[in-house]
Amino acid sequence: MSASWPRRPRLVAGNWKMNKTATEAIATARALKDAGVPADTAMLVCPPFPALLPVRDVLEGSGILLGAQNLHTEPHGAFTGEVSGAMLTAVGCRMVIVGHSERRHGMGEDDALVARKLRAALRDQLIPIVCVGETLAERESGETEAVLTRQIAAAFGGLVAESARGTVIAYEPVWAIGTGRVASTEQARDAHRVIRAALDQHGEGRLGNEIAILYGGSVNAGNAGALFAEEDVDGALVGGASLDPQGFGAIAAAASGKQARAR
Ligand code: PGA
Repeated sequence: MSASWPRRPRLVAGNWKMNKTATEAIATARALKDAGVPADTAMLVCPPFPALLPVRDVLEGSGILLGAQNLHTEPHGAFTGEVSGAMLTAVGCRMVIVGHSERRHGMGEDDALVARKLRAALRDQLIPIVCVGETLAERESGETEAVLTRQIAAAFGGLVAESARGTVIAYEPVWAIGTGRVASTEQARDAHRVIRAALDQHGEGRLGNEIAILYGGSVNAGNAGALFAEEDVDGALVGGASLDPQGFGAIAAAASGKQARAR
């Protein structure tokens, strides 16, 4: 999509989930704006829908990107309670989370729906952050690689490389989300490599090396540096620790400190 979207950007994204009223969100956004964006790192916040517009206004000129947590597949219509990508773009969103595990496992979103949402996001000029990840049962039964490969194939199959390059992936092991149990750096590295290999099966180029893959699941200011030291970890999708502007800023600073990589 956007020509200005760089190859494998370093990105720290905050998923506020169903937290913060508009008033609280404004205060958090102000604190983030005051702290500023560290060098060579993109920062994104994904507030709940009612806070998007006021947060957009606060963040204007800050360089911090605005994103949403979900979208519907259709641009408009009789879909009570849903929000379209076109509406998100219109309030200043640049990105949208697609297929978060809380929607896959809590709201019944399957691979096919995630694929349609990914395409809807691209259609509506949004950069989708496509979430993939295995459950604890799947990891313990040795299915992690197969699950990740299946989720990537379902999302990216049939997508032209040019479109695929306008996406970001988040590897979020379900057992690490909101549990305080972060993946080890080896687990994150191995999973990111599986995802890159799966991406190479799609599009004509080496897609796996062109798309940013974030790690998500209990990332905080204390463990972010070790995760970012992994060559294959391009950033983080942060839930709980993104609610506190200081902690989120510290995670972004850790990403900024990541060694420049020769790719
Ligand atoms: P967490 O959530 O950082 O609170 O584990 C991550 C996510 O759900 O994206």
